[in-house]
Amino acid sequence: MKVAVIEGDGIGKEVIPAAVDVLNAVNLDFEPVPVEIGYGKWERTGLAMDDADLELLRSCDCILFGAITTPNDPNYQSVLLRIRQELDLYANIRPFRPLGITMDIPCQPKPFDIIIVRENTEGLYAGIEDVNRNRACSTRVVTRKGCLRIAKTACKLAKGRGNSITIVHKANVLKSCGFFKELCIEVANENGVRYDEMLVDAMAYSLVLDPGRYDVIVTTNLFGDILSDLCAALVGSLGLCPSANIGDKYALFEPVHGSAPDIAGKGIANPLAAILSAKMMLEWVEEFEKAELVQSAVDNVLQKGLRTADLGGTASTNDMANAIVEYIRSVQ
Ligand code: NAI
Ligand code: MG
Repeated sequence: MKVAVIEGDGIGKEVIPAAVDVLNAVNLDFEPVPVEIGYGKWERTGLAMDDADLELLRSCDCILFGAITTPNDPNYQSVLLRIRQELDLYANIRPFRPLGITMDIPCQPKPFDIIIVRENTEGLYAGIEDVNRNRACSTRVVTRKGCLRIAKTACKLAKGRGNSITIVHKANVLKSCGFFKELCIEVANENGVRYDEMLVDAMAYSLVLDPGRYDVIVTTNLFGDILSDLCAALVGSLGLCPSANIGDKYALFEPVHGSAPDIAGKGIANPLAAILSAKMMLEWVEEFEKAELVQSAVDNVLQKGLRTADLGGTASTNDMANAIVEYIRSVQ
């Protein structure tokens, strides 16, 4: 299996090598294919990603992705959005649950186990934008095909869990949301999955107060992006939250967080989000035992009290990654 490895920028360069070490530790049979994409390349060449990079990505089975710093240039088009669209990675799957960590944060983690299923190729991130001196317009695209396939993905996930989905929208204001909601309901009914629905603003409020109420959340691109960071705060840190971008042919695995320029280069980033993204890759290739091993390694080092700075501790990125690898070796 060929895995394209895009470290990207900032802490991407620190956490992705840790995830690759973990894939090696569980003896995954894979060939890493380094692909240089991102801000560094943009500075040198004026392009953060070229067509050859995209072809290289297409020649691999899947992608492990760090994060890319967005250049301060009004003409810049997001590389990640382009990859998601070109490879048709329509389902962004983001699991959130507390990893047994109690922290002194305003929203104390309560028991919850949520998966956000975010439409990943259209909505307000469709890339249809028009800006002139007096007006800026971003077109929100919601298609029947896009709604049906994301709703089916959510229902499929729900079947293995509580058999219910929450459809999150803003249909009281946006007709495109009404369209999304109705199609999600149609798919839920066809699949015998229970559903409820929430307006996105009420959902933000409710998730903070009572996250345990929710199971599989299906929503459009921008809302899913925003609610993901809210859920990451409930978990305790962006540094703990992995994600998968899945299409019918390709898949890309990445931490929810960005390149974190405020801590980049210090060796203190939490690598667990990237490591758990690698675990999601193992599940995608149906290496379930290896995936379980990674999860138990993460649980074990956290139970032992190892903490990076985002979790109030002093462990470095390497301390955390090494502890995970050592645990895996010790039980093999
Ligand atoms: P961010 O996710 O990079 O950082 C937000 C906050 O969380 C920062 O205080 C950061 O230090 C902290 N944080 C994030 N990951 C952490 C980790 N693994 N360990 C410890 N602390 C962590 O979001 P921000 O600051 O809004 O964006 C920074 C850059 O990243 C921007 O250029 C943005 O466009 C880009 N970005 C890229 C993404 C991607 O490539 N997938 C996703 C989100 C942002
Ligand atoms: Mg985001």
